[in-house]
Amino acid sequence: MKKVYLAMSADIIHHGHINVIDEARKLGEETVGILTDQVIATYKRFPVIEFEQRKKIVENLKGVSAVIPQDTLDYVPNLLKLKPDYVVHGDDWKTGIQKEIREKVIETLKEWGGELVEVEYTKGVSVSRLDQTLQEIGTTPQIRISRLRKLLEVKPILRFMEAHNGLTGLIVEKLRISQGDIVKQFDGMWVSSLCDSTVKGKPDIELVDNSSRLNTINDILEVTTKPIIMDGDTGGHVEHFAYLVKSLERLGVSAVIIEDKVGLKKNSLFGTDAEQEQDSIEHFSSKISRGKQAQVTEDFMIIARVESLILKAGLEDALKRAKAYIEAGADGIMIHSKEKEPDEIFEFCREFRKVNKKTALVAVPSTYSQVRESELAELGVDIVIYANHLLRSAYPAMIDTAQRILENERALESEECCMSIKDILHLIPGGS
Ligand code: SPV
Ligand code: MG
Repeated sequence: MKKVYLAMSADIIHHGHINVIDEARKLGEETVGILTDQVIATYKRFPVIEFEQRKKIVENLKGVSAVIPQDTLDYVPNLLKLKPDYVVHGDDWKTGIQKEIREKVIETLKEWGGELVEVEYTKGVSVSRLDQTLQEIGTTPQIRISRLRKLLEVKPILRFMEAHNGLTGLIVEKLRISQGDIVKQFDGMWVSSLCDSTVKGKPDIELVDNSSRLNTINDILEVTTKPIIMDGDTGGHVEHFAYLVKSLERLGVSAVIIEDKVGLKKNSLFGTDAEQEQDSIEHFSSKISRGKQAQVTEDFMIIARVESLILKAGLEDALKRAKAYIEAGADGIMIHSKEKEPDEIFEFCREFRKVNKKTALVAVPSTYSQVRESELAELGVDIVIYANHLLRSAYPAMIDTAQRILENERALESEECCMSIKDILHLIPGGS
């Protein structure tokens, strides 16, 4: 019996897959490589169905003899293990991002006289349309909450982008770019206190209360499916924080980050220019513990933000606090810095990872923006937050447009800065 190999993600199974499996069966004994959650999440999007379940589905399809994981987009490692006589694939990968993968398959098969068999791509199947339909159906609070922990398990580093209303939420939800084999996108939304306050014309001093913050979050939740991390400022009074945790869980927010400051909180990027007081380890730890006790689900995360570097209290203090907050129940540590160079952040990460391999680590490279995600991942950072960039880029664009109108006493000169009326009307479907 000849050996046949084919690979698929099998996340959304349609008749196109069945056609390929049928064709492969005619050639011999069929082994299907299923892309692992890591591969799909890194190169495309988080799979709708997890690996073990996808494996079970495919094992039960007629004609499939065996299912094995394929843990790279590249077929070569599995081909070298199996040495199949045939690889079967739809003929739609001759151009585009899969072209290179295809060429490597042909080259590798040559080593033992194997052959690539391409079956006609099944017409009328649009995976991107199926994806879009799934997105329109939406998600549930429970699925959304748990998505953050699942993503942490399968991706080397998660990228979160700030969103301060439904529209910016949609940008984070939908923006995708292709680079080679990879489709890049953001993993979720950060609801920043700075941005949420600034769009309301208010300072970032915990003046915008939680009812208003939760309204903003609700607007974002209504039109998106990706996980949300809330910037919870100091978390407020210990007693109030417990209620915030329950409200966030009920809504479907995945995590809250609270910072170890007391009194009138000012934005960290003022550093020591603004008078700010750090909380005691005991008091902040009790807030974390109370929050964890209030939690209803297993999945929600409370992340403790250590402000020692911002307040010039030093690395030792930062490490001591991180340890204490984890002992109090924190599911993650956010370490913040306002330095232009990343040295103190790097040092913290190195020291922290020497003693703690698993607690989620969050970095916010606003001032040290030259640092790439890969460098942070290398140092053990799990989540990178782009904390304010959509708002910071929108504001200058709005000022420019308003200035042009003032200068010219008409709007013509502003048109080149604006999207067309037709485009804005159609930006959000369902309006006409
Ligand atoms: C925020 O985005 O509100 C933050 C991060 O807390 S920072 O502005 O850098 O303090
Ligand atoms: Mg903030």
